[in-house]
Amino acid sequence: DATTEIDLSKILPGQAIKAVYRKSPLFVRQLTPAEIAQANAVPISTLRDPQTLAERTKPGKTQWLITMGVCTHLGCVPLGAGEGENKGEFGGYFCPCHGSVYDTAARIRKGPAPKNLQVPDYVFRTVTTIEVG
Ligand code: FES
Repeated sequence: DATTEIDLSKILPGQAIKAVYRKSPLFVRQLTPAEIAQANAVPISTLRDPQTLAERTKPGKTQWLITMGVCTHLGCVPLGAGEGENKGEFGGYFCPCHGSVYDTAARIRKGPAPKNLQVPDYVFRTVTTIEVG
């Protein structure tokens, strides 16, 4: 089976979990209203890889940020998906390998990574279940 089903019911606002999709880490995060506002406040023209939060999430579900947990620099696993981990100065994810910093939409904001964390193909199967792949 090439798809992966993820249960969202236990992921509270402000929390992220690490799952696995095609043998790679996958970050599944429920953004808080403040994190959504923070992402939407950024002028898109200032971004290295310009994308809105809406473009990186599903309609009506902007609180659910689903991305690969693979740094777009050289493939390390960024921190920030898990309790007590370093989310970095833009509140999203931080890659300790060479210091790439991602924001609350997992967009690259600082450091050597060229691209935002990749959003995989996925669909909502139910209100609390997504199917990735
Ligand atoms: Fe993440 Fe280099 S692999 S910054």
